[in-house]
Amino acid sequence: MDLVSVTEGRTTVLVPVPDPSAQFPPGSAPVFYNPRMALNRDATVLFLAALPPDARPDDYLDAMGATGLRGLRVAGETGLRVTINDRSRRALGLAAMNAARLGLPIETVLSDANALMSTRRFGAVDLDPFGSPAPFLDAACRSAVRYLFVTATDTAPLCGAHLRAGMRRYAARPMNTEYHAEVGLRVLLGFVARELVKYDRGLVPLCCFAREHFVRLQLGLRQGVVAADETLARIGYVHQCSSCPGRTEQRGLVAVPSVCPACKGTTVPIGPLWLGEVNDPLTIGRMRAMLPSAGLERGTALDRLLATLAGELPTSTHYDYHRLAKWVGASPPPVGTVLDRLGERGYRASRAHYSGTAIKTDAPLGRVIEALTAP
Ligand SMILES: C[S@@+](CC[C@H](N)C(=O)[O-])C[C@H]1O[C@@H](n2cnc3c(N)ncnc32)[C@H](O)[C@@H]1O
Repeated sequence: MDLVSVTEGRTTVLVPVPDPSAQFPPGSAPVFYNPRMALNRDATVLFLAALPPDARPDDYLDAMGATGLRGLRVAGETGLRVTINDRSRRALGLAAMNAARLGLPIETVLSDANALMSTRRFGAVDLDPFGSPAPFLDAACRSAVRYLFVTATDTAPLCGAHLRAGMRRYAARPMNTEYHAEVGLRVLLGFVARELVKYDRGLVPLCCFAREHFVRLQLGLRQGVVAADETLARIGYVHQCSSCPGRTEQRGLVAVPSVCPACKGTTVPIGPLWLGEVNDPLTIGRMRAMLPSAGLERGTALDRLLATLAGELPTSTHYDYHRLAKWVGASPPPVGTVLDRLGERGYRASRAHYSGTAIKTDAPLGRVIEALTAP
């Protein structure tokens, strides 16, 4: 395998030379490495580096290590004790070589991730499979003590573009709406919550986001039936109107038929999914403050992402204001104008981190349209 040196954060590793003729070079390489996931890894390193000393996990499992880059960055840039696992002998060999070159005392394990997570517990468990994390979540929920990190790259099933695959994997009904990124994030989060509560455990979303081709969850875990019941209480449905952009939320495991709050038309349930906050302001604040000392520069995509997350409302849907303007036959003003108008009318309104045309607000549809079309 031909190798090339790459530096991410403060860590330099060897990765396979990408094949420029391949449709998706990371997938055809002998060991997986995707430079487009740098922000995902940056966010993990920053999250762990920003934890207060008493909140740091005892150790961290990179359950699908590939080149080892993620786990090696966690070890070298946060000082945590790290185990890197992969079922591929070639991948683990490369990860071990990278660890030796960096002089990092990493434990490497050649195992199926489910087998390892079924027999050992780790302070933090990180799932980063190629595609869906669904087959690994039961074991991860038993293995992770304080934190669980999950990446999903199967955004088409999660967001409703591949409806049947989404239903099979996540036991939920997604829908390809204008807010499909939000649906994907919340269907995944709802699935993790349901996998966890059966062990009388609960979760707190600390830093979760959707981006281009993946969803990333960074979750705090809690013990006990109270935590589990509180987690279950956050599961519910979005009921999307079949005739207009109206929608409504409903808590509970069972979908209860509803009518559109805007036009009284029939609605279709999306879910079960997670309702409410997907980020913790304190965690996001700590991560933003830590950016420069973590060697991650201000003005980068991660900096901008965290700034948007800090101001983002926790509504489970958004309005795409361009689509809304087209629907009412108006030409859209700048997004800032619509947000200001909603604020002037006494509503909360913000942008969303995954789309430049998304508006999150607690205003009813009629008031959003009025703010959009006002002279
Ligand atoms: C997307 S790559 C991981 C990328 C890596 N975490 C990073 O940040 O560069 C997925 C890896 O999971 C490994 N893998 C797939 N199924 C596995 C399983 N059941 N148990 C352990 N490793 C597995 C593959 O060999 C591959 O190296």
